[in-house]
Amino acid sequence: MRKNKIIVVDDESNLLEVFKRLLDELGYFPILCNDGDTAFKQFLANQDTDLIISDLRMPGLSGIDLLKKVKEISPETEFIIMTGFGSIENAVKAIKIGAFDFISKPFQLDKIRISIENALERSNLKKENSFLKKQIKDKFGFEGIIGLDYKMIQIFKTILKIRNIKSNVLILGESGTGKELIAKAIHTNSIFKDKPFVTINCSTIPKALFESELFGHKKGSFTDAVADKKGLFEESDNGILFLDEIAEIPFEVQSKLLRAIQNGEIRAVGSNKIKKVNVRILSATNKNIKKLIEEQKFREDLYFRINIIELTLPSLKDRKEDIPILINHFINKYNEILNKKIKYVANQAMNFLILYDWPGNIRELENFIERAIVMDIDNIIDVDDLPKTFKEFTKVDVFHDIENTIIKTLEQTEIETITRALLQTNGNKSQAALILGTNRKRLARLIKKHLIDMGQFDSPPHFDPSK
Ligand SMILES: Nc1ncnc2c1ncn2[C@@H]1O[C@H](COP(=O)(O)OP(=O)(O)OP(=O)(O)O)[C@@H](O)[C@H]1O
Ligand SMILES: [Mg+2]
Repeated sequence: MRKNKIIVVDDESNLLEVFKRLLDELGYFPILCNDGDTAFKQFLANQDTDLIISDLRMPGLSGIDLLKKVKEISPETEFIIMTGFGSIENAVKAIKIGAFDFISKPFQLDKIRISIENALERSNLKKENSFLKKQIKDKFGFEGIIGLDYKMIQIFKTILKIRNIKSNVLILGESGTGKELIAKAIHTNSIFKDKPFVTINCSTIPKALFESELFGHKKGSFTDAVADKKGLFEESDNGILFLDEIAEIPFEVQSKLLRAIQNGEIRAVGSNKIKKVNVRILSATNKNIKKLIEEQKFREDLYFRINIIELTLPSLKDRKEDIPILINHFINKYNEILNKKIKYVANQAMNFLILYDWPGNIRELENFIERAIVMDIDNIIDVDDLPKTFKEFTKVDVFHDIENTIIKTLEQTEIETITRALLQTNGNKSQAALILGTNRKRLARLIKKHLIDMGQFDSPPHFDPSK
């Protein structure tokens, strides 16, 4: 385990000796300094220092100045001020600008030990908090792609891992799971983001035109070819070509596509010249591509070329815990677009929405919220606002069994979501309510209901004169 680092600064070397013995004994890692300037230099070299115990009046940088400079760089580092007789006012000043505690000299070892332990506990808590906050930022989603689900987080991580490599990626997943969104995120998060990103939806191209779309054509090579045309491979040279719905590519074209990917060579329709291209291929499909290979509708060798990295997006019914945050995300989005003020989804309606299987996945959920917001009159999405199909779907026999487990996850999600919002706002309820799309009063009620401990969120340093 890592030892807590503690810098002690005082111009009396006897005192430093005492501290060294005490801190060694307690299992900490002490760094001893004779004046404020040295202490600051030591701090710069050891920015993970947990605690600084400093004299107030010293040659060079004073205790107060040291405190200010350190806090600017690392608010998590705690400070204990030592004062000589009669300088309590300065000690209070130090507390007001962020010191954790002060002790007056001469002091009892026991007292200083307790103060050190308390300060370290607080420093550790703060570090945990800021770690959590960082995690939450990433976790709520990734650039507008919402997902707390484990599988989604793995996908976000992969996107970051492959930022600077040009491997081909195949994105799988049911319709509406966000394949196109992920493809775009792969581009914008890569170091090639300034290079072209060209999309072709393979399901919309007539069979006869495929080759010319991909590789271009020479004027006169067929009836409609009135001029030379560049193909999409050339358009996306040095960048990304996104082949959406790749399973729809006609079998005859697949071998030519394979050659283009494999050798980086293309030949325009009606031309006998070969051109070199350097294109990274992203592709997506909601089809079962392995089955298509078995049925000999998709070339296996092409499959191996395009799926150097394979991402499978989970269906919404397999990431139900994401439903409430997605709903919140779309409520905010469509409130803004449609200039409405929908506040939240009533509890019972939310249960239905979580129970529903969403065969159209996130697209279906997004469309539902948009429609509900357009139609809504009382600013709350309630059971009455749900289509009949939802309610019928959820009227299965196992409803009650499921309900119990769902309500549990719903509660859990509620607690987690509220906690995250409070962490983001350092415990400010009004701001947290804004993030959550609710009001302060309702949030306060939920905090009470879930017994959420407000003490765990950052609060400004305070001074308890009774200590
Ligand atoms: N995780 C997400 N967070 C927020 N919005 C999402 C998320 N996933 C998908 N969406 C939204 O859902 C809609 C459908 O996503 P997208 O078009 O990327 O799905 P798809 O998998 O390509 O679907 P299809 O197979 O039908 O082409 C889009 O409006 C997209 O912005
Ligand atoms: Mg798509």
